[in-house]
Amino acid sequence: MKWRESVTRMPNVAAWWELKILFYPELYFYTLEVYMVLKIFHDICSWLVSFCGSVFMIFAIVSAIIVLIERFLYSVHKKDPASFETWKNEPAGTPSRRIALITGASSGLGRKLALNIDQKEKNIDEIWLVARRRDRLDALASALTHKTHVLPLDLTSPDSIGIIESELEKYNAEVGVLINCAGLGKIGNYQAITIEETDRMMELNDRSAVDVTVTALPFMKQGDRIIEICSTAAFQPLQHFNVYAASKSFLYNYSRALRMELLPRKIAVTAACPYWMQDTEFIPVARDTKTDPTHKNPIRHFPFSSSSDDVARRIMRASRRGYAVSTPGIFCTIHRFFAKLMPREVLMFFWEGLRRV
Ligand SMILES: NC(=O)c1ccc[n+]([C@@H]2O[C@H](COP(=O)([O-])OP(=O)(O)OC[C@H]3O[C@@H](n4cnc5c(N)ncnc54)[C@H](OP(=O)(O)O)[C@@H]3O)[C@@H](O)[C@H]2O)c1
Repeated sequence: MKWRESVTRMPNVAAWWELKILFYPELYFYTLEVYMVLKIFHDICSWLVSFCGSVFMIFAIVSAIIVLIERFLYSVHKKDPASFETWKNEPAGTPSRRIALITGASSGLGRKLALNIDQKEKNIDEIWLVARRRDRLDALASALTHKTHVLPLDLTSPDSIGIIESELEKYNAEVGVLINCAGLGKIGNYQAITIEETDRMMELNDRSAVDVTVTALPFMKQGDRIIEICSTAAFQPLQHFNVYAASKSFLYNYSRALRMELLPRKIAVTAACPYWMQDTEFIPVARDTKTDPTHKNPIRHFPFSSSSDDVARRIMRASRRGYAVSTPGIFCTIHRFFAKLMPREVLMFFWEGLRRV
């Protein structure tokens, strides 16, 4: 056997060879075979590690180049608006007002985003606020320095989209910033969440967000921006938060592809993916489900939650810079990074541990 000869030429193995001759010849052969198997396994692992490392480096470099090309294309188009393809349905004439349209503005993150826009966004004439609770929207409107337009609408109702469209037409508005923040989550497994709750999640998080976006696009121009509020849940499947995570994954992928579609129009789409925020109404609403005694508190704690103020500030900064994805905080950034590297099985296994802590 060739490999045995080559191994016995190594000095330490030669010493073992002597021992074997003297005392335990059979044991020596077993040891040698185990050693060879381990060595082959080690060689395969080393090869795999260096191969995967090289592939990772190549993709990281390619991604960085693509990001640079994308940013270059945005800046080129900025200098030469006339060379731009315009949207075929774009309304004629100069818009009378440039607005920020925010859904889910009556509480939590949406409210904080409206306040941020009110303080920091330039060239916005009016802020349009959408949600169901009129009193909350009115209270926010009176706290803003900009002119406001309150639209108390249930976005799960298809009529609401038509109302938004007719309001945009009526006021000949240009949507300078569109933020789809209205969202709903329900914690629990397939037994704990009713079909109505499941449908409402998909209707609000996906269908209404897409419909509002498509409705607003004819009223947007070069340099305008869209922010879709997704979640860090978009990065992986989450058992016991399944439909919500899947709905946010849909919105995340929709936002990423829409950004490419809108590159010629130079409208930047940012998919914002925050981690838990405990200072909003989201978690109490998410926990309020039909209780199944066998599945009490499927997600027990929400450690290291972020503040909605900080999240809103980071999201708006990322949008102003034209980023494709905003992970507003350290935990969602780490999650995004590992979700790219790790297999789904490993991520779901970690989540299984985390949700029980
Ligand atoms: N909090 C978190 O841990 C967290 C983490 C990641 C992502 N997010 C996402 O962030 C977004 C904002 O959540 P939040 O934390 O600010 O929760 P929130 O305080 O519950 O806000 C949800 C907003 O959506 C509106 N809304 C709910 N159903 C609606 C409907 N049928 N039609 C119109 N508006 C509706 C609510 O207003 P009305 O009730 O007045 O209609 C409210 O303004 C959501 O998309 C959520 O998925 C939250």
